[in-house]
Amino acid sequence: MDKKYLNARDFIGMTDKNIYETADEFQRMLDEMDGHNANPFDIVCTTPMGAKMNVIDPYGKGVFRTTSYVTSNYLGMNTHPKVKEAAIEAIEKYGAGTSTTPVIGGFLDIHGILEEKIAKMHGQESALTFSSGYSANIGVLTPLLNQEDIAIVDMYVHASMYDGLHVTNKKIFGHNDVEYLEKLLIQYQGKYRNIFVIVDGVYSQEGDLANLVEICDVSKKYGAYMVVDDAHGVGVMGKNGSGTCNHFGIEEKVDLITGTLSKGIGTIGGYIAGNKRLVNYIRHFSRPSIFSASIPPSVAAAAAKVIDIFSDEPEIIQKLWENTNYAHKKLLEAGFEIGKTKSPITPIKIGKEITAKLIARALLEKGIYIMPATYPAVKLNDARLRMNISAQHTKEDIDYFCKALSDIDNKLNFTKKSILKR
Ligand SMILES: Cc1ncc(COP(=O)(O)O)c(C=O)c1O
Repeated sequence: MDKKYLNARDFIGMTDKNIYETADEFQRMLDEMDGHNANPFDIVCTTPMGAKMNVIDPYGKGVFRTTSYVTSNYLGMNTHPKVKEAAIEAIEKYGAGTSTTPVIGGFLDIHGILEEKIAKMHGQESALTFSSGYSANIGVLTPLLNQEDIAIVDMYVHASMYDGLHVTNKKIFGHNDVEYLEKLLIQYQGKYRNIFVIVDGVYSQEGDLANLVEICDVSKKYGAYMVVDDAHGVGVMGKNGSGTCNHFGIEEKVDLITGTLSKGIGTIGGYIAGNKRLVNYIRHFSRPSIFSASIPPSVAAAAAKVIDIFSDEPEIIQKLWENTNYAHKKLLEAGFEIGKTKSPITPIKIGKEITAKLIARALLEKGIYIMPATYPAVKLNDARLRMNISAQHTKEDIDYFCKALSDIDNKLNFTKKSILKR
């Protein structure tokens, strides 16, 4: 095979190869990226994930001290002194892990405290934690939906939602296209036992928001249940960071909110929140919960502390928004395309995959660590730099970023054209 591999799309449906041959072809793709010093995926960091990070250069130039935009740790909660203290205290009190699943003995009082705080934050009766946001999304859908049901899904929902829909019927509607959603609801009304409408609060690659008020109204009008994945809304949107449903005032109309402890909350784990009986049913029938160990007590204690900090220290969320608004303004003034973002997730649109990787590399050499978002996270050749802004950044960091990117653009002219053709 003499084809050039510049993106992961080439590996979908590679039916003429056995597993080792496919892996060899994939290695060729990595080698090609290495040929451009442009593989962004194997970078190792040696400091906490945050606005300043030390990054080991995979191409031998030592350690870069960077200003980083790679994590979804929007508020720097992973290193907040009170959060670290809560985690350490919990380790001392409960040890490092539970080694069993929540319903067969792995449920500590600290898990209960966290679930209560999550439920309250989202204005819901009850919550259930999972080992990740990914498993929460799979874990909420699989016990509820089967062959008699249908999920109507915004095309941009996270991969984990799609992965929870393998055993049911699904129909995808265009991003935020409420008119088409209504047509589908009319078409499916009465034909399925349950109709679910599934959206994100904040979209993870575009940074824009769901039209939640309209989507909710139309879903309720036709008797559909609503599930909102608010992974990127918590700590960012709504009163005291309580999320996108709170921001739009629709918490009471939503059936289930799912989320993660790994982004604004800065730890690891996921959850669902909703009606008490429904959550309890899911607690006993969701395979990712009943067959997987509970989150470590240190994580539960840290996450619970973060939720307190959202209301106790509002200036942190305020700073996040100051930085976000400042960065969006500066990037637009500099002529970059950032789509419809309304959140700290800022997609700087590039186009070709390899171009985005080369720009990320050039930025790294200037002390800026940023990830290109490429297929399958986004459509093929809709690559972008995914700039995640945090409360820990300074205006100087953002000015430096805009200047560095403009300097690279002056050389590569990527805002006008893509520099490498496939
Ligand atoms: C919208 C959305 N939902 C769910 C997840 C999964 O979260 P976790 O990292 O906790 O598995 C992500 C993570 O990228 C996400 O962006």
